[in-house]
Amino acid sequence: MNDVSRSFRGNSNAARDIAHHLHPYTNFKKHEQTGPLTIVRGRGIYVMDDDGKEYIEGMAGLWSAALGFSNERLATVAYEQMKQLPFYHAFNQRSHEPAINLAEKLKEMAPFEASKVFFANSGSEANDTVVKMVWYMNNALGRPQKKKIISRIKGYHGITVASGSLTGLPVNHRSFDLPIANIIHTSCPHFYRFGKDGETEEQFATRCAEELEQLIVKEGGAEQCAAMIAEPVMGAGGVIVPPKGYYEKIQAVLAKYDMLFIADEVICGFGRTGNVWGCQTLNIKPDILTCAKALSASFLPISAVMISDKVYQALSIESEKIGTWGHGFTYSGHPVAAAVALEAQKVYEEIDLFGHAKRLSPIFQKHIKSFADHPLVGEAMGIGMFGALEVVKDKKTKQAFDLVADGAGLKVYNQAVARGLFIRNMGDRIAICPPLIINEQELDDLFGRLRQALDAAMAELTAEGKFKG
Ligand SMILES: Cc1ncc(COP(=O)(O)O)c(C=O)c1O
Repeated sequence: MNDVSRSFRGNSNAARDIAHHLHPYTNFKKHEQTGPLTIVRGRGIYVMDDDGKEYIEGMAGLWSAALGFSNERLATVAYEQMKQLPFYHAFNQRSHEPAINLAEKLKEMAPFEASKVFFANSGSEANDTVVKMVWYMNNALGRPQKKKIISRIKGYHGITVASGSLTGLPVNHRSFDLPIANIIHTSCPHFYRFGKDGETEEQFATRCAEELEQLIVKEGGAEQCAAMIAEPVMGAGGVIVPPKGYYEKIQAVLAKYDMLFIADEVICGFGRTGNVWGCQTLNIKPDILTCAKALSASFLPISAVMISDKVYQALSIESEKIGTWGHGFTYSGHPVAAAVALEAQKVYEEIDLFGHAKRLSPIFQKHIKSFADHPLVGEAMGIGMFGALEVVKDKKTKQAFDLVADGAGLKVYNQAVARGLFIRNMGDRIAICPPLIINEQELDDLFGRLRQALDAAMAELTAEGKFKG
């Protein structure tokens, strides 16, 4: 539990935060009572709160701070760029070097033949842009009916109106009147939870593809279905690695109905899955790719959309017809953010961060798998440098805890925080996704603290009569 019983009095950070700050993803009533955990500085994989307590940031912030929380070079580049050209835009054929350089660099790195790169400020904006691109493109091609975009249950693509609709989690729809029209969801490829008795993983992958095809047919087939979006490995939905062969089967269905594949690499991109891109790890051939987060190591907000030439040509025709592509953000390709992102890529290369992540991946996964025997853990899953543990009431039957009454995942989270470790509980799935710069010794420390937290949470649940082992 956030230890914020330590005084909300006077001018404390906690008191001022409660008084003035409306937080993202927060239960406001609870916040009024318990207040924030305020972070004041970072160093390597650690962050420190305003009481001086240090934590291993086992989630790289929000799956994103690949270089951890201190880097002199990125700070210097930001400062230098601010002195030279602190802001300029890219509307109406204006440009600046940081955006040009970064677009060129991303095309070189892309896991497909990318033609152009569009910049935005967040993963949500990038995915919103893609929805509009797909609609605009199909109007250009004289296919005004071909507008439906398929996403997946438990997929996470952001929270703006279109990207929040793509997201397949109830909490992002409920009371927000989402999803909007033309966005629909297909099955989640989580074998542990959705595989049927007696079904192999391969049969499950085949069934996912069949269910996708049934949905496409029901929704008007090639005439109405335009694209599918997927994270190579689902992140916020619970770190869900699809079964082997899943994407080959999915892509075959999409090809049959002339649908685009949009890879949301916002978490997976830049080394997280053990290769530069999740598309490479999962054998995906995208037409459009979105990325953010580790693009700039999260030092500044920036995201990108990379598109194939087929997509670009269609956008180009329509923009000529209308007179402009009427879309763009004041800060699309912001020079400081772009310069920092480019420098982050240079640092990644110089320290061979992707090679480091690849080398560390088997060690990371060994740690994750070592929890499979823990009495509280139903599934221990991961790939590359991230993973998840699902805590369950009954290991044999996979019976879940009551999320609210038992609060098992939250107990693990609180016990981890008490031990100076940030992880994330998505309900009863515990995610671990540290900065990619983490070393072997630090991994031992992280997973040691996690094991203690699990044991302590299990003791609590047992004492409360909620877990029998
Ligand atoms: C896969 C994925 N796509 C999109 C987003 C949305 O990004 P943002 O929070 O920057 O809008 C996220 C955020 O976690 C994400 O994980």
